[in-house]
Amino acid sequence: MNQHVLDAFDSPLRVDPAALMDDPHAAFAALRPEHPVIRLGEKLYLALRAQEVLSLLTDPRTVQVEGPDYVALKQIPDGAAARFLTDLFLFSNDEAHRAKRGLFARAFAHGAMRAARVQVRGVAETIVADLPRGESFDFVERMAARVPAEMIAAILGLPRSDARHFAPRVYDLARALTPVYPLPHHAAIEAAAGDLFAYVEDHLRLRLEEPGDDLLSRLAADWRANQAISFDSLVHQILGILVGGSDTTRAAFAMLVALLLERPRDWAAVRADPGLVPGAVAEAMRYEPSVGTIARFTTAPLEVGGLLVPAGVMLSVSTLSAMRDPALYADPGRFDIRRADHPRLHPVFGLGPHRCIGEMLARIEMEEGLAALASDAPDIRMEERPRMLGFGGIRQITPMRVRIR
Ligand code: HEM
Repeated sequence: MNQHVLDAFDSPLRVDPAALMDDPHAAFAALRPEHPVIRLGEKLYLALRAQEVLSLLTDPRTVQVEGPDYVALKQIPDGAAARFLTDLFLFSNDEAHRAKRGLFARAFAHGAMRAARVQVRGVAETIVADLPRGESFDFVERMAARVPAEMIAAILGLPRSDARHFAPRVYDLARALTPVYPLPHHAAIEAAAGDLFAYVEDHLRLRLEEPGDDLLSRLAADWRANQAISFDSLVHQILGILVGGSDTTRAAFAMLVALLLERPRDWAAVRADPGLVPGAVAEAMRYEPSVGTIARFTTAPLEVGGLLVPAGVMLSVSTLSAMRDPALYADPGRFDIRRADHPRLHPVFGLGPHRCIGEMLARIEMEEGLAALASDAPDIRMEERPRMLGFGGIRQITPMRVRIR
């Protein structure tokens, strides 16, 4: 589109991000009809409507931020965390992205993940059995945080007992991916990056020498057969898998259980009919998602719903807003575990080349976690509902107090 044509478009409304924090769903519902895109800062835009949110993720005029730019932008000091972020396939484009992500294609194929379901259920049952009975406790800490850590450990073939040791470090390293890099916590992030690198490196070398029947061994074998990336880069990508599946799934799982427990009829229905579990998981991720926005950069000026977004700015898309857009879902403010209008590709996992590689794993973890809870702790009661904070990036969840009789 030439500049003359673009000049005919209006500029998006400037909105203070603080005004969106308290109740993003209400704020976006009020803005969406008139404002397909809003401006949150000098070079920061946010698309709100389902139609544009989905099309922008596959628009060649938007790209993912590159690792080195991410590190420079956030002023992250040299070291293990900076090396990890520079190399991550999440923060790459085109050929580099394909080479790094491609290595995981076989191991994360849906069929391979489905085969892990029985194993995942076993882990879920152990976690539920460990939950305290007859006392109040934080469900986020005692169950939701253990779900992704112990399940990915089991699937990768890492000793289950190690999950307790590496999970806190994974959650520390995940802070490197928050919208504002928490420089005051850099020392903890750096230590986590260094420790985790050494830990995964050791296990990977072992599997190269003595393969077992686990995901890490398959990844090691695939890498040996086609060394498209360096060994260190392979370790970084595995760290990326650990981190990508941590905060996202912890918060999503806790919110799923909270949404059901505060609706006794839905909780009873899920307990009576496990066939409702996948629908409940999909609906919870739509209704109160653990990832609210996906960030992209514009390489050319573009028109979004009749408004102009210039080249060279960050254009985030609000999947949170899109998933409450009546253009995509009927009665979107209603939580409905039997909803039949989910798009084939759930928007919470993004779209295009970077669509979440862990989608099937996340679904299986949550489905089996929920099924185990419904079957083995059916009388669980919620005493304090958690809140999902913020509207952007990976959202944080507050504690959730529950009690099992
Ligand atoms: C409810 C849970 C999850 C949600 C909501 C979620 C969401 C997302 C989203 C929106 C993206 C796209 C990012 C972008 O386009 O910039 C993504 C990418 C990614 N996710 Fe997930 N995710 C979840 C669970 C997981 C799990 C369990 C894993 C671990 C296997 C994982 C690993 C990754 C990785 C490695 C990427 C980068 C993909 C790429 O750049 O090609 N995620 N995720």
